[in-house]
Formats: sequence, C-alpha cells, structure tokens
Amino acid sequence: MSKPKLLATHALFEAPQQRLAEFFDAEFWTAPERPPRAELLRRVAGKDALICLLTEKIDSELLAAAPHLRIVANVAVGFDNIDLEACTHHKVAASNTPGVLDETTADFAWTLLLAVARRLLEGDALARSGQWSGWNLDQLCGADVWGKTLGILGLGRIGQAVARRAQGFGMHIIYNDANRAPAEVEQRLHAEYVSRDGVLANADFLTLHVPLLPETRGLIGAIELAQMKSTAFLINTSRGPVVNEAALIDALDKKLIAGAALDVYEHEPQIPDGLRRPNVVLAPHLASASVETRTKMAMIAAENAIALFEGRRPPNLLNPAALEGAAIQGRKSL
Ligand code: DGY
Repeated sequence: MSKPKLLATHALFEAPQQRLAEFFDAEFWTAPERPPRAELLRRVAGKDALICLLTEKIDSELLAAAPHLRIVANVAVGFDNIDLEACTHHKVAASNTPGVLDETTADFAWTLLLAVARRLLEGDALARSGQWSGWNLDQLCGADVWGKTLGILGLGRIGQAVARRAQGFGMHIIYNDANRAPAEVEQRLHAEYVSRDGVLANADFLTLHVPLLPETRGLIGAIELAQMKSTAFLINTSRGPVVNEAALIDALDKKLIAGAALDVYEHEPQIPDGLRRPNVVLAPHLASASVETRTKMAMIAAENAIALFEGRRPPNLLNPAALEGAAIQGRKSL
C-alpha cells in the first residue's frame, strides 16, 4: 500500500524527520526562505498531511487547494495562523504543540526581563565598542528586579512557569486571567489575583502570556500603557498584536513607561523604527528556540500527524468537530 503524502514546510530535525519518513511519503521544504504562498499552494495540492510553522497562513484558500488534506500539524503552541473553522468545514484536523515549550519560553521571558532591567544590551555594546573607560559610579544603572512586583496577564502553563522563577527573586506576584487559577495554584505560586487594572497599575514588570484571540488583540494599548508606572517595564513573549505597537512607541516617547522587551511584533518580521531605542530589548521571536524544545515541538507535530493515519485521535487535536462522523483514518471521504 502506498504511503500517505506529507509536506513539511521546513526541515524538522533528524529524529522527527526520520519518524515521519517511516509513515509518510514525506517532502520537506529546505530552502532558507519561507515558501512563497503560490509555491506552498502548489506543493500542498496532492498531499494528505501538512506540517507547518506559524508563518504559514492556513485558510480556506489553502484548504481548497489541497482536497486530500486530512491534517494540519502546526509546529507551535499558538495557532492564530490557522483558521480552525475553515479546517473543520473542510474536515481537516488541526493540531498544535502545547506543554513542551513552557519552561523554555519562561526562561526567555526572564532573559528579556533581566536584560531590559539591567541594561544588558547597552552594556554589551559599550564593552564591545572599545570606548569603555572603566568602572564608573553611575554607569548604566538599571532597575532592581529582586523584591519588585511582577504582573502577569495570562496565568496558563507559561505564565505559571514565569511565576515559579519569580519566587527566586523574592517578587510579589500579581496576575489577571479570564479564568482565575485554582486556589492551590495561587497558593503554590504565591500569586495574588487582582483586576486587570490592578495589575497594570502595580506591576514593576508586566509580562504577557495570553493567546492571540479577538478579545486579546490590542490588550495593551494607549489606555493600558497610561495606567502603568512610569518606572515599569513591559515584556511580551506572547503574540505581537496583543500590544498596540503605535501606542507603545507613543508611551515610550512620552516616558509613560521605563522600557520594553519584546520577542514578538504586530507585523512580523517588520519591526518599526520607533522600537529601536536603548530602553527596548528586541528579539526575533526566539522564546521557544532551544534545540531541545524545538526538536520536541517538531516531534509532537509528527506524532499528531502519524496518530491520525494510524486511526487514532491526534493527541493535540484543536478541532474535534473536524473528525466527527468520520472514521479516523484514511482519506477524508471515509
Ligand atoms: C509558539 O509555539 O506559539 C511560539 O510562538 C513559537 O514557539
């Protein structure tokens, strides 16, 4: 029997790639640039499975171009690049990679937080410049982190991993989330549930860990930035559009906040010039980028695709309705 056909829009590290090759007639996009849209539509046309990155828009157009497609396995926990309704309509399963990147992402949120608070990039630039004239009492003095108040918007798995690290810094943790965490979690993390306004007004460091949804788009805009302390820092490792970038630039211009550290942007990979300033740390969407974690993410995406073709429910299925009434195997016409 011939193997189902799979397209992966990126090479996937050795182990996941080998695993996929056992089950699929697999094609990997290996060019350094992301596949142009027309090329993606052409290549996905005859495929039964697609493994994609968050840079690929999975919408009705793509699904219509791939009539045999049974699953889209995203190599990311966030899935705002996938139109789930369209997938369900086309009876295409969609999956993501939750769980494996929480700690790595939390490490990076802390990397950004510490870097912006302690002016690490300015220090690095000075140290490399050959212009450093020696220790000086008021040189590049930043803000203390220990003992300060950490505000978290979104206390899911990643928010909790960030909070756990804050305990080592003796921080007071306040948070807000659409769903309040169970009492046991709050106690374990010493996290105090307060209103969103309360988080904005009291945080010395505000870190965002919400998914991108219609209700979180522009969550941090002009009104929210104006509520923050002028000494506070904003850290964003969630999704760019959660922050209104124009409002952030305006707030930085007006010194309404002390600085920001960003891993994600409203229109990636574009970064507005207004964000290129010494009190803003900029990273190119790296939060989950450790070799270990990215390999696990690719393996999870592979396992989701394999599960479907073995007649099992993909472990990280996002749209169970897509499989309703269908045998979980073979082509979608079954
Ligand atoms: C995700 O998984 O959603 C990240 O943004 C990339 O790791």
